[in-house]
Amino acid sequence: MFSIERKDLGPNFLFGTATAAYQIEGGQGDGRGPSIWDTFSATPGNVKNADNGSIACDHYNRWPGDLDLIRDGGFDAYRFSLSWPRLIPEGTGAVNQQGVDFYDRLIDGMLERGLKPYATLYHWDLPSALQDKGGWMNRDIAGWFADYAALVGSKFGDRLAATATINEPWCVAFLSHFLGVHAPGYRDVRAAAHAMHHVLLAHGNAIDALRGQGVKNLGIVLNLEKSEPASESAEDQVAFDYGDALFNRWYLDGVFKAKYPELLTTALAQYLPADYEKDMEIVSRPLDWLGINYYTRGLYKSDPTRPIFPYTQVKGTEEKNDLGWEIYPNGLTDLLVRVSREYTKLPIYITETGMSETDDTRRVKFYDDHLRAVANAQAQGADVRGFFAWSLLDNYEWAEGYTSRFGIVHVDYQTQIRTPKGTYRAFQGMLHNTR
Ligand code: FCB
Repeated sequence: MFSIERKDLGPNFLFGTATAAYQIEGGQGDGRGPSIWDTFSATPGNVKNADNGSIACDHYNRWPGDLDLIRDGGFDAYRFSLSWPRLIPEGTGAVNQQGVDFYDRLIDGMLERGLKPYATLYHWDLPSALQDKGGWMNRDIAGWFADYAALVGSKFGDRLAATATINEPWCVAFLSHFLGVHAPGYRDVRAAAHAMHHVLLAHGNAIDALRGQGVKNLGIVLNLEKSEPASESAEDQVAFDYGDALFNRWYLDGVFKAKYPELLTTALAQYLPADYEKDMEIVSRPLDWLGINYYTRGLYKSDPTRPIFPYTQVKGTEEKNDLGWEIYPNGLTDLLVRVSREYTKLPIYITETGMSETDDTRRVKFYDDHLRAVANAQAQGADVRGFFAWSLLDNYEWAEGYTSRFGIVHVDYQTQIRTPKGTYRAFQGMLHNTR
């Protein structure tokens, strides 16, 4: 049971659950092309147990039951992603009709159940054919992505309640091209700097393409953290400035202020694409809403021995989830207040938060505390309109494979049996009480 009640978030607050295509769909035999996650996971050492998404939660076949679960939980909306290589196997050119048919069925299935479809165009499964051409490092991706966005807009746009271009551009760019943790697994500063700009340029181009198709209610989903210095020293303050700029401000400043933090344009000067400044008007196209994914805080400590970004990250003192991520609900309040004061008055949606954990009583408390953190931010003026739990199902947690369980519904991967956890029941109790 939650202690918070639906009415505490306001009368029209939207509740949903979220997933992503590669993490749940499986269904790879319908003409879908390969993605960078197929090859990344097939490369030893990248993913725990070399797990991959070839079957995942078999949502491709089991989607009716999964949508029933969302409806029966009392949720209003479902945040899902479309798979670019399922729709356009080579990334550009020929369309896979079976892929179009799948998302037709899925979206109609949501509408039949009274669920609002919240679509994300890109949740990390880049077509391999585009990676062969340099993927996010190649400026041409802005055009490839706009063409894909136009296709989605023309086929499904009239039935989508909201559409986001990119999920978590920091992960697409930095985690995947500098830290090497996600596909394509690069550790290269020039690759990262190019991807950091191209991902936002592609976002802006996709906004234009979607608007061109008459698609309404467009946004982007940023993963933001509560960044803090590890101590009050002047050196740690500088470390924090870099960490915050890399994680939060690059994306917020780019999208809402049409510029990048000077600290980073200076540090990355020789690695950024030429003339990136000329693209900033496209990067900062007006949006209708902002999605924020929030999981933890970042604590930054000075480390002058490190080139380019002179910091290391240290662990905080609060409780952790079973991946070691610190649980920090007050940071969500602070972050929401900061974004709404310094960046935008657009409606904000928490498009993801959640907890990897097998002890579900801890997960119930996690959601209770984070929902209260949202209510506290609303009380301080942040216009937060909705909250999506990550995730509906236990699923393929990227480099963690199937070892990590974020679901509010348990999945037995041998039998594909779904079993609602206490967290699902807590949402159901809260949402049904007040409908
Ligand atoms: C976010 C991702 C999502 C999931 C959660 C735990 O960064 O958007 O796919 O992996 O983290």
